Amino acid sequence: MCGIVAIIRSHTTLEENNLESLPEVLISSLNRLEYRGYDSAGIALGYAEEDGVLSTDPDTRRPTIERFRAAVSTRSLEELKKQVEPAVHSAHTAGRDYNRGIGHTRWATHGRPSEQNAHPHQDCSGSIAVVHNGIVENWRELADELTSTGHLLESETDSELIAHLIEEEIGDTDMLEATRRAIKRINGSFAIAVMDANSPHSLVVVRRLSPLVIGTGKGICVTASDIPALLGFADAYYVLEDDEIASISPDGIHAFDFAGNPAQLHPIPVSWDIDAAQKSGYDDFMGKELNEQPAAIKDTLLGRMTTAGSLTLDETRIDDESLRDVDKVFVVGCGSSYHSGLIGKYTLEHWARIPTEIDISSEFRYRDPILSSSSLVIGVSQSGETMDTLRAISLAKNSKAKVISISNVVDSSITRHTGGVIYTRAGPEVGVAATKTFSTQITALQMLALYLAQLRGLLYPDEIGSLFDQMRTIPDLVQTALDRSEEVLTVAKEIADRRDLFYIGRNTGYPVALEGALKMKEIAYLRAEAYPAGELKHGPIALIEPGTIVIAVATRGRLWEKMHTNISEVKSRGATVVGIVNDEDDQTASLVDYALFVPKTPPLLDAVVDVIPLQFLAYHVAKLKGLNVDRPRNLAKTVTVE
Ligand code: G6P
Repeated sequence: MCGIVAIIRSHTTLEENNLESLPEVLISSLNRLEYRGYDSAGIALGYAEEDGVLSTDPDTRRPTIERFRAAVSTRSLEELKKQVEPAVHSAHTAGRDYNRGIGHTRWATHGRPSEQNAHPHQDCSGSIAVVHNGIVENWRELADELTSTGHLLESETDSELIAHLIEEEIGDTDMLEATRRAIKRINGSFAIAVMDANSPHSLVVVRRLSPLVIGTGKGICVTASDIPALLGFADAYYVLEDDEIASISPDGIHAFDFAGNPAQLHPIPVSWDIDAAQKSGYDDFMGKELNEQPAAIKDTLLGRMTTAGSLTLDETRIDDESLRDVDKVFVVGCGSSYHSGLIGKYTLEHWARIPTEIDISSEFRYRDPILSSSSLVIGVSQSGETMDTLRAISLAKNSKAKVISISNVVDSSITRHTGGVIYTRAGPEVGVAATKTFSTQITALQMLALYLAQLRGLLYPDEIGSLFDQMRTIPDLVQTALDRSEEVLTVAKEIADRRDLFYIGRNTGYPVALEGALKMKEIAYLRAEAYPAGELKHGPIALIEPGTIVIAVATRGRLWEKMHTNISEVKSRGATVVGIVNDEDDQTASLVDYALFVPKTPPLLDAVVDVIPLQFLAYHVAKLKGLNVDRPRNLAKTVTVE
């Protein structure tokens, strides 16, 4: 997840506030966004006229911007510091300092991590610099338009286009208006900061869907993706709302909506310490990441449907011809990634009509699977580094199978070993227990199923469009489920002192039960076992006795009525049943002891919504037991050993 910072100061602010030089201040702000994860970084700097100098091109005497970029993973900010030191030194020797700058930490989603792809990006003239957090959905169309009118694009990113779009508009107007006109041409999400060499007294910031806050202090104005970057300089901050644009200067903020009407900004005093701020006010990363799921799913869906109405995954380098001939799919993964595969199987088989096997990576690689050139092996891994999944993929490649991966980390080992990749755009996940990467993996597998159905001509374009529209409703339904965390807490209090729990479900409800039980084991250390509900009578039911807790995923899937029978079976043996139940389903609610309601979802898309109360249940039980939910014992976020 990228982070942006933009700082502008008055002539004497830094000395008055006892701060270091502007580049140092900018880099230390970027440092405070490190928790968002990054693989490259960059800054652009400019001088004010009152310092007696503008940075100028020696040939043309035109004002320019000084840019520094580095792509050495999490050492990029350190590297930037080294790069900028000589410039700071010569400025100090000459008795001046930069008055403004914009900076960026990049978490690659569009184009691999490299210096060339690192922000800030510039227009052809080099006088406009832009940092961007978000996704330009219509980048292909815009890139074609811009190159056809002579713009030279130097990176593989969608963000660079924004600098060129502003360049097209700036001829007869100012930076604010040019930016406003430019972003009108963009579909997608963005938090953008713009710097113009010719406008030394202000910066422009604009936002839609991606976060942006503006902090003000004595003679300084700082804009950033999150509050930690403002700490130390700002006394108060303002939240720029969606579709608002602002010009910022040391004297204040002038904000407008896109129609040009003045926007009302309300000051909020800065009262956070840095640790709390990095967690955006949540007690822990897991709580934060749980709540980021709607945005993560939305981002993963962005840009996949063309304006012509067909689903596209072509930036993922998947070759359509060979995909069309696939006669068998294998999904391999570990932990939650294995569970997302189990859920993906339902759409792969139902929509794309391809026989699909799901395997735990460490089993797959040793079981001599029957693979051929018409097999498609999908490696699912949030980290992209899990050794067993990497080895399973190598085995598939050696057997001439087609191989693609689903990962949250661009250019990770697994993605480098596969012909195609679908990136989940969840942003970095810090908590060891997977939450937002799990729900976005399911989203990615569902998109892939739809894409294969489209390639194989199994669904009409309007059916694809309507299923994709249904997928787009999921983030809001997930949000509704998230808003009910307090109800889950009530149930968590009832079960926190138990030792053994059973989770049951049918159809997609079974892998949801598996994932719920895994979360409970991982972070709350309870013995939680999941079974297909129909399998209970073949053994596990012997363990049910009065007071045993059974958690039943009983939303209205195809086998809803059969779940009623299974609930009755355990109830009649004395179990206390917690049901995951759809809104207004009084029938199921009346059968269980505690009903945790979730909104009804379109068929086959229920798992991402139904899992939310189970994630919360594990989270609340762990917190009630005083456990560290972010760093559970014995577990690692990335498992690079066998
Ligand atoms: C570890 C993590 C789990 C994750 C599993 C697979 O066990 O703690 O949260 O599901 O690895 O990781 P991967 O990165 O391959 O998805």
